[in-house]
Amino acid sequence: MRTRRQRLAETKAAHNHPAYAKMAFVMGCGVQGKGTGSRVLDDDEGTPYLALFDQYGNQSFGYSHPRIVAAVRDQLDTGVLNSTKIMFEEVQIRLSERLAEATGQLLPYSYLANGGGETIDNALKLARAATGRPGVISARGCFHGKTFATLSASDRPEHRELLGPFMPHFRQVGFGDLDELAAALDDTVAAVLLEPVQAEAGVIVPPPGYLQEVRRLCTEAGALLVLDEMQTAFGRCGTFFAYEQFGVTPDLVCVGKAFGGGLLPLSAVLGTERVWEVLRVLPSTFGSSLGGNPLSCRVGLESIAIASDEAFLTGVKERARTIDERLSAAAERHPGIVTEHRGLGMMHGLEFTDGATAGLVLGRLLEEGVTSTYSLYHPNVLRVQPPMVISEDDLDHGLSVLEGILAEADAHRTGTPADGPQAAELSPVTRTVRLPHPPGRVLDLLHARPRLLDPFAADTGRAGEGPVAEFAGRLGDDAVVWADRTRLHADGVLLRAEPDWLWRTLERRVTVTDDDGGSRLDVHVAWDTDSGAYEDMLGGRIGFLAGTRLDELITALAAELDAQAHAPGEAQPTTPGRKSADT
Ligand SMILES: Cc1ncc(COP(=O)(O)O)c(C=O)c1O
Repeated sequence: MRTRRQRLAETKAAHNHPAYAKMAFVMGCGVQGKGTGSRVLDDDEGTPYLALFDQYGNQSFGYSHPRIVAAVRDQLDTGVLNSTKIMFEEVQIRLSERLAEATGQLLPYSYLANGGGETIDNALKLARAATGRPGVISARGCFHGKTFATLSASDRPEHRELLGPFMPHFRQVGFGDLDELAAALDDTVAAVLLEPVQAEAGVIVPPPGYLQEVRRLCTEAGALLVLDEMQTAFGRCGTFFAYEQFGVTPDLVCVGKAFGGGLLPLSAVLGTERVWEVLRVLPSTFGSSLGGNPLSCRVGLESIAIASDEAFLTGVKERARTIDERLSAAAERHPGIVTEHRGLGMMHGLEFTDGATAGLVLGRLLEEGVTSTYSLYHPNVLRVQPPMVISEDDLDHGLSVLEGILAEADAHRTGTPADGPQAAELSPVTRTVRLPHPPGRVLDLLHARPRLLDPFAADTGRAGEGPVAEFAGRLGDDAVVWADRTRLHADGVLLRAEPDWLWRTLERRVTVTDDDGGSRLDVHVAWDTDSGAYEDMLGGRIGFLAGTRLDELITALAAELDAQAHAPGEAQPTTPGRKSADT
């Protein structure tokens, strides 16, 4: 009896992306339904999720922004939909004109494409062609996309091992380290590629004056400054482009994501006349079948109009102040779990002491109907980067929920009694309890109902030994089905899942030993979801669910044993089939 969520997760795991399937399932994400503003409905439950994250810049204008949707409809109605490529495509040409205006004519040329990585590739091609040099310097921790050139720029060891060798002449320096950059900038360097605020590295804002000095060093060395503004442009940092905040003008700037209204694939690299010379010399060096198609371009025009509106930018600045103040205060209140709060404009991150705590907080947020995520290359950093259109009330609600969860997590961690979640536990979750009852009595109960201490059993009253093909488990509020096996041992029970889409291994072991006439109960819950770099994040959530449930089950077991002991006459072990009070 699989839920729709589980069927979708299994299919995604089987045919698309196993790790993301597990992540979304374990974190409790629902099936995506209709979205408006900063809210998306769970299609099954009909309940809204409030977005504290804009999906890496995509939903900067929220879900289904009415002006974006109207723009799509308008363009569909014109019937001008497909690119001829050889005729003058007016909407595309108008868009290039508007992009140039958005830069104050400082970067008057642009080339349109579909995605961010593709556009960064284009920027690097332009830089090489314009300078006649091969070198690209990027910053450690950067994320610029998943093409070979952009992966070469981020040069992550795990990617290099799997996909290498990467492209030659790419090297990295520390983000914010001017000495290292100055030492690396020689006459072989075509481009210095940077995000004005590093997003996936964990929301890293550069030190004051850094970008201005980078600009100066690039000019001096004859290298081009290429800024990746996929997440920072369109008002996110309080100005149309983030580079305006830093008082620099790059030679090339790359935009995408919000540019397509979070709806259509659209990206662009914008640059100076000097850089564009290559298009005169060799026009066919750039090209894209569907990049800059009329529908995307019509949306692009609308996105620029929305983000250029002064009232919109004023709203962003106000909300940015609210986020900054409240997260700074939260970080100060909870130094035991939050190591740092960083951010600029409406782009913020909270760094936790460990990935498991980040996973725990993220799962609790989702439980409370608030969505966010971690930073791709820094899973300890929770993102607070809501759609820029979020209302003050919604923002207040989202931040209040987050503040409450931080308080719960911290209260437990510091030992203050609280009903909230416990501090992050990872596999194995273990408990050792002493019970004032002889081992035989405890074992009788466990052998009659071996799932009595199974934190994942939907029905802990279940009896019997052996395999169960469609075991009805539960993970938090979620029904989840897998094949499971029960073994009764002389000193306890062992439950083991068959490897499947969710578990590589899952074991629950209970051992009962004599303890001075009473019993010592050891419970050991261990799992491996085979989620690579995300194992800790998933583990933090699973550990929280398993630990909380296990504590309830142990309390219920102790109560049942006490009740038996105090019952008139000889207490009998519970018979198979009878459900325990806690199910
Ligand atoms: C800063 C940055 N650059 C580039 C990209 C790549 O964009 P795309 O996924 O559209 O290729 C991303 C995507 O998340 C990004 O955040």
